[in-house]
Amino acid sequence: MSQAIIEWVSGPVVRARPEGAFVMREAVRVGEQGLLGEVIRIKESEIVIQVYEDTTGLRPGIQIEGSGQPLSVRLGPGILGGTFDGLLRPIADISVDGPWVKPGAIEHVAADFYFMPQVAEGDALTPGAIIGRVKPARGREQRILVPPGTSGVVEELVAEGEYRDDVPLCQLRNEDDKRHPVTMSHQWPVRRPRPVSARLPSDEPMLTGQRVIDCLFPVARGGKAAIPGGFGTGKTVLLETLAKWCNADVIVYVGCGERGNELAGLLEEFAELEDPRTGRLLLERTVLIANTSNMPVAAREASIYTGVTVAEYFRDQGYDVALMADSTSRWAEALREVSGRLGELPGEGGYPAYLSSRLADFYERAAKVRTLAGETGSVTLMGAVSPPSGDFSEPVTSHTRRYIRSFWALDTHRAHARFYPAIHPLHSYSTDAGRLARWWHAEGCTHWEELRTRFLTLLDEQARLERMARIIGKDAMPPRQRFILMCAELLNEGFLRQSAFSEIDRSASPARQAVMMRIIGEFIEQAERVVADGVLPEAIAQLPVFRRLMRMSEEIPEGQWEEFSELSDELDKSMVGLVTSNQQTGEA
Ligand SMILES: Nc1ncnc2c1ncn2[C@@H]1O[C@H](COP(=O)(O)OP(=O)(O)OP(=O)(O)O)[C@@H](O)[C@H]1O
Ligand SMILES: [Mg+2]
Repeated sequence: MSQAIIEWVSGPVVRARPEGAFVMREAVRVGEQGLLGEVIRIKESEIVIQVYEDTTGLRPGIQIEGSGQPLSVRLGPGILGGTFDGLLRPIADISVDGPWVKPGAIEHVAADFYFMPQVAEGDALTPGAIIGRVKPARGREQRILVPPGTSGVVEELVAEGEYRDDVPLCQLRNEDDKRHPVTMSHQWPVRRPRPVSARLPSDEPMLTGQRVIDCLFPVARGGKAAIPGGFGTGKTVLLETLAKWCNADVIVYVGCGERGNELAGLLEEFAELEDPRTGRLLLERTVLIANTSNMPVAAREASIYTGVTVAEYFRDQGYDVALMADSTSRWAEALREVSGRLGELPGEGGYPAYLSSRLADFYERAAKVRTLAGETGSVTLMGAVSPPSGDFSEPVTSHTRRYIRSFWALDTHRAHARFYPAIHPLHSYSTDAGRLARWWHAEGCTHWEELRTRFLTLLDEQARLERMARIIGKDAMPPRQRFILMCAELLNEGFLRQSAFSEIDRSASPARQAVMMRIIGEFIEQAERVVADGVLPEAIAQLPVFRRLMRMSEEIPEGQWEEFSELSDELDKSMVGLVTSNQQTGEA
């Protein structure tokens, strides 16, 4: 392997004099500890390396060893349910203070799994084909794939039984008569997207259990969403809520440059909470990648790619995967720091000019696909963005906007008023909404699109009328306008507001969301009619049923459909009652 000698060190960036050839993105080991790094620039008499571990103590003269390989991680059945650093090295206990991983460690921690073959000797296998399944002690069943790029006829297949994840399960003899061992785990370079047989259009939502998202700004399976929000607006709580309740098969949660105690807390919760769909612990479907603020900056860069690679690995087994990254801004800051130390010409906000293309590379990896094995799977990406002082025109937010399809803008005013999730309905959008309407129709929510549009229009009108109310006073406004403000209040308080900490309401099934949507739609329709008949909006707001509607999200749990239909009946009766008494007053 090629070697190089360090000439200059600045934080995570090292310049070295090469002795032998290196290639871009080659993984290297630095010094006696064998710190992990990656070649990020090559000149005639110099290579530049980004080191992913603490570089304290590195100095000129120290040796660097090339590996001849791009930076890779080992993918296998042991990943699910685990906690790892940005280079996919296991972390035993994240709740204690780091460093969690011995510098330079890359030994693969082998484990045993019970393997059930699904092919027979003599079968011809293509890349990505499934050779069998394993059922880990915890977590869901996994499939063992022929690594992309490998194919051949099965020879020497092992019998069903327990095997270490790094011993060959079979040999594949390819056309050139070469033999390739297939093990349960294989290496994959993190920056290279895993191949698929086709990218598919996505017409199914990834359900999050959050009404403001599922009903107003949905994200499709294989979609991509950004959660920009100023300091303390609820990005982390929202991402954690999505990780808990979204209906993905596998969750990859990347804590990138954020507080370590938050991740430890999340892990603790996941070890106790059950997945409502499977009744199994949430932890069993989760992979946690921790690159917290106390860990070396450059590894944040790698952690994002490691996360997506892991997500793609499960996608290739035919699973729907959701990846949450908190926060992509910290990742961008790592790019900026490395670029600054390299003396590159800074672009907007000091970020390197390639910030935009790096964001594109990341979000591009979201997709619903037909896998090489012919199954469908998806990777849905959701990234928090932390714009300084909540200014969405800053570079990371504005470039991210170009590549995502759902934008969940967290609003400082809403957060200060403790209105959660603080997603601002007028600053957010989803370009997936149109094609997801059909899914809701098929689920029996035939007015989904109509109601969604109605709600959004109402919220838009509310904003305009509130500006007006501040000038002329609400009492001076005509009843029709006060009616709109009343409906908007119900929509906000009774529907969009949803506490992540409420046992009853932290997650809502699509059926419960649909019934709530319908009742609010009925209310708007009926109230509009009676207001046109001369009833004052204030009289409606004083009805006991209005108060019940305002509280239905907190009071009517999942599955209590009779309670919802009683509420709907009460609404009808109350409105009729109002009209009658209004007529009587008029006649008298
Ligand atoms: N959905 C929610 N339901 C109830 N409370 C919430 C919700 N979201 C946020 N909060 C409250 O707001 C606080 C701050 O939220 P969070 O830590 O998620 O903000 P953040 O945007 O990630 O902050 P930072 O910019 O520091 O990363 C939480 O501790 C919690 O009290
Ligand atoms: Mg946070």
